[in-house]
Amino acid sequence: MLISIWSPILLLCSLISLALTSNPAFPGWYADPEGIVYGNRYWIFPTYSAPFDEQTFFDAFSSPDLVTWTKHPRILDTNEVTWATRAMWAPSVFEHEGKYYFFFGANDVHEGEVGGIGVAVADKPEGPYRDILGRPLINDIVNGAQPIDQFVFKDSDGQFYMFYGGWSRCNLVKFNSNFTALVPLPDGSLFMEVTPQDYVEGPFMFIRNGTYYFMWSEGEWAGPDYRVSYAMSSSVFGPFERIGTILEQDASIARGAGHHSIIKVPNEDKYFIVYHRRPLNETDMNHRETCIEEMNFNNDGTIRPVKLTIEGVTGPALP
Ligand SMILES: *[C@@H]1O[C@H](CO)[C@@H](O)[C@H](O)[C@H]1NC(C)=O
Ligand SMILES: *[C@@H]1O[C@H](CO)[C@@H](O)[C@H](O)[C@H]1NC(C)=O
Ligand SMILES: *[C@@H]1O[C@H](CO)[C@@H](O)[C@H](O)[C@H]1NC(C)=O
Repeated sequence: MLISIWSPILLLCSLISLALTSNPAFPGWYADPEGIVYGNRYWIFPTYSAPFDEQTFFDAFSSPDLVTWTKHPRILDTNEVTWATRAMWAPSVFEHEGKYYFFFGANDVHEGEVGGIGVAVADKPEGPYRDILGRPLINDIVNGAQPIDQFVFKDSDGQFYMFYGGWSRCNLVKFNSNFTALVPLPDGSLFMEVTPQDYVEGPFMFIRNGTYYFMWSEGEWAGPDYRVSYAMSSSVFGPFERIGTILEQDASIARGAGHHSIIKVPNEDKYFIVYHRRPLNETDMNHRETCIEEMNFNNDGTIRPVKLTIEGVTGPALP
C-alpha cells in the first residue's frame, strides 16, 4: 500500500532530477572538449567523435549556465580546410583583439603526409571560421611528437605559447603576433620538448595564484584507463614534475575519462573540468560523451581528485 502511494511520486522525482542532470552536457558523441567563457556564455568546442573518415567537421555548443546548451552546427569543415580530408579533432580556442581563433588537428598525420595542426579565425565565437594559412601551421614530426592536440596558452605577460603533441611526446612553441608562424623560444630553439612522465597527449595549462598547472592525458584513448594527470611549476617552461592523476574511470559511472579542459569562472576562484567519458554499456571507441564536473584545490594548491557524476554541475550566471 505504502509503495503504491509513493511510487508515482518517486517516479515524478526521478523524472525531474533526470531533467536537471547535466552529464552528458549535450546529446551526441563528442570528445576532447575545449571549454571557455566568451562574454556572458560558456562555450564548448569538441571533436565530433566518429570513425576518422567521417570526422570531417566541428560543431560548437554554448550555454548561460552549463546546463542548457545551444548547438552551433558545422562551424568549420573540410570544405573550408582544403588540405584536411579526415580526422579533424581536439580544438583549442581563444579570443584575441576581437577575433576568435580556432586551432585544430587534421588527417592523423604521419611522416611524409600532409596534415597536422591548422588555425582558423572568425569574427564571432560561432563562426563562420576561415582557414588562415591554407596549409598546416605545423606539419612535421618534431622530437617524435605527432602534430595534434594543441593547446594555446596566454601567459600572464600576454605572450602566447602552444603545447602540443601525440605519440607520448609534448613540445612547446611560441607564436608571432598573428599566429601565422612560430618564433624562437628564449633558448633560441623553435621547438622545446617538455614531455612529463607518463604523458600521452591532450596537454592543457592554466595559472592559479601564480602557479602554472600543466595537465595532460595518459593511457589509451580507446580504452577504459584513459585519465588526466598534472604537474605544478613556477614557469611556462617547466620543469613539469608529475604529481598525480586527478580524473579517471569510475566503475559505477563511466570508463575512459580524459582529454579535458578547464573553465575558470571570471572573478571567482571556481573551476570546472570539461572532459569526455565512455558510458559503461558502450564499447565502441568513438562512443564518447562530453561531461563537466567541479574541480577543487587543497590548501597547498594541489588539485583534489575529481568525482565523476551523473548530475553534473550548474555554472554561475556570467557577468
Ligand atoms: C601576419 O604577420 C606577418 C608579419 O609578421 C605578415 O607578413 C602576414 O601577412 C600576417 N598574416 C595575416 C593573416 O595577417
Ligand atoms: C596563494 O599562495 C600563497 C602562498 O604562495 C598562499 O599563502 C595563499 O593561501 C594562496 N591562495 C590561494 C587562494 O590558494
Ligand atoms: C546504453 O544505454 C543507453 C541508455 O539506456 C542506450 O540508449 C544505449 O542504446 C545503450 N548502448 C548499448 C550499446 O547497448
